[in-house]
Amino acid sequence: MSSKSSRYAEVYAQWKRDPEGFWAEAARAIDWYKPWDKVFDPYAGQYGRWFAGAECNTAFNCLDRHVERGRARQKALVYDSPVTDTQRSFTYQELRDEVATLGAVLQDLGVKKGDRVVIYMPMIPEALMAMLACARIGAIHSVVFGGFAAPELATRIDDAKPAAVLSASCGIEPGRVIQYKPLLDAAIDLSRHKPSAVLMLQRARAEAEMQAGRDHDWALAIADAKRRGRKAGCIAGRATDPLYILYTSGTTGQPKGVVRDNGGHMVALAWTMKNHYGIDPGEVFWAASDVGWVVGHSYICYAPLLHGCTTVLYEGKPVGTPDAGAFWRVISEHGVAALFTAPTAFRAIKKEDPRGEYIGRYNLSHFRALFLAGERADPETLKWAEANLKVPVYDHWWQTETGWPVCGNPVGLGALPVKHGSAAVPMPGYNLEALNDAGQPLRPGETGTLAIRLPLPPSCLPTLWENDKGFRDSYLAEFPGYYTTKDAGHIDEDGYAFVMARTDDVINVAGHRLSTGQIEEVVARHKDVGECAVVGVADAMKGQVPAGFIVLNAGVNREPAEIEREVVKLVRDVIGPVASFRTVMTVKRLPKTRSGKILRGTMRQIADGELWKMPATIDDPAILDEITEVMQGHGVMR
Ligand code: COA
Ligand code: AMP
Repeated sequence: MSSKSSRYAEVYAQWKRDPEGFWAEAARAIDWYKPWDKVFDPYAGQYGRWFAGAECNTAFNCLDRHVERGRARQKALVYDSPVTDTQRSFTYQELRDEVATLGAVLQDLGVKKGDRVVIYMPMIPEALMAMLACARIGAIHSVVFGGFAAPELATRIDDAKPAAVLSASCGIEPGRVIQYKPLLDAAIDLSRHKPSAVLMLQRARAEAEMQAGRDHDWALAIADAKRRGRKAGCIAGRATDPLYILYTSGTTGQPKGVVRDNGGHMVALAWTMKNHYGIDPGEVFWAASDVGWVVGHSYICYAPLLHGCTTVLYEGKPVGTPDAGAFWRVISEHGVAALFTAPTAFRAIKKEDPRGEYIGRYNLSHFRALFLAGERADPETLKWAEANLKVPVYDHWWQTETGWPVCGNPVGLGALPVKHGSAAVPMPGYNLEALNDAGQPLRPGETGTLAIRLPLPPSCLPTLWENDKGFRDSYLAEFPGYYTTKDAGHIDEDGYAFVMARTDDVINVAGHRLSTGQIEEVVARHKDVGECAVVGVADAMKGQVPAGFIVLNAGVNREPAEIEREVVKLVRDVIGPVASFRTVMTVKRLPKTRSGKILRGTMRQIADGELWKMPATIDDPAILDEITEVMQGHGVMR
């Protein structure tokens, strides 16, 4: 769709004509120790590498250069924590100094350039400091979300093989304190790889027991380093060196270690702040997510700081901390210009405050735009937000793998008309097409797999951690010459993308990405479970939630309800509360095709109250009636 006031079409065409020229120009926003030999080297890596030969440091670009160039006293970070009733802020200079000190502490613990560091922390300033301290000394961080249980953390420790783990004694969820240390100790017990050091921040709400030799007290180590005047400098690394690994759900229980580089990541993120989000340096940007997710990496930590903004770190929920006005309070108190969150947060607010009455109680005069991503933005939620907030609401679509929006509405280039249900248009760098199963581009409006023609733009994953083959198999093999997003949808005649569903077994639960295959693997471990299936069913607040179906082993004559409770607990203990796995239904048999494939898609359609067709290949149609009855009994059906 052309819009006279937007430069989008012109800028996208400019990128298409000369991608290397476009990214070289964007790279001027970054300070480099050594310029690149090639903007893009098509022969390096799995599909080429960006800014090959260049040297840089991400923490320098996020902090030091702003301190040197006039932002020393500007707030870099505002921490707002209704769950602890605390607010703190750090200027660029203060944050730079804290990060330099923590970097030195890590070096003193033996962490070297290229070493991995696992960060298992709640939403506190030290989590951001930990990420930036790793970046400063060239260590590769891997943040693990606090809602994951010990075995999930152990899997990540075994894959990343960290030299050190940085953690805090607890996270605080409304109404309960989650002790992190026992989870961390259990994870290290479970893992084959043993990190040699743990740096533990003691929070007032819970005291972590320390293990002599391995565990170090964060506050004492920092105080000691400060006394000794220890500060780490920024270590120059290659632009193509990894900045971080972030594990995300794939089709199996083995999470995928998405690798992010330094140079391309900075260039793409810095470009988005003005051009996509329409934010100027010095303004306040708030991503209400968690540092454990990619949104937290890109838009709580790195992008706002690269751009010289103030970033908000919020330790709370959209509702219940204390009420449905929490977001508006934060926006008004800190002068937030743009908020980025997941639609589920708005569904939660809308449920508590359907008429948006809390909104009017706050001064939102600085607030210009709301950006939604992480899951499909249902038009109802979008319209509610538009009507009540009286600012434009923009859906945008991206993935852990890309690190920045594939599609969005480029506010800084001049906003395009909003189409409800669409995540808008591809950003420069993304040659997006809908493909049929044979890999042929479809016509506008036809639904297929959304795929990006290679090469991927800067910031997208160059590979999976120590798993080039896994990267090629997962993303490049299905459609030669393309990266598959594993999202299905269509592109309309105006170039707007409509992202409808995953093509694999990934589901989106309250904006959190989970794999039903992974949950099935855990359910199947229960001794009484013979067969099982897990499907994502529609949920009014979380978008989707997983629901499990189990067939008990022959001869088991315990109460099914008891086994169902044990299965729920098992998933919570192995994957974590984040799975939101609460519904298990015992059935006599599972519906299958004649070749033995479980008909998960049909089960989901029945649960969601969608129109469904009897699959021609079904083994025994009567099973679907049995399943429907069980779902009705559990109140699962819409
Ligand atoms: N550490 C430990 N446990 C956590 C956690 C963390 N960091 N985050 C969530 N959990 C727990 C929750 O307490 C909950 O536990 P419970 O089963 O005992 O109730 C469980 O994990 C499920 O969490 P969640 O799905 O987030 O549900 P919720 O009811 O706590 O909150 C929302 C629902 C919608 C308010 C919340 O998910 C939200 O704010 N989402 C939007 C923002 C966002 O995080 N987006 C992510 C990517 S942009
Ligand atoms: P994550 O890697 O956790 O960010 O999850 C990425 C996945 O979330 C995508 O592949 C989509 O399935 C889904 N997703 C993210 N944003 C959107 C959006 N705006 N519309 C539809 N789906 C989305």
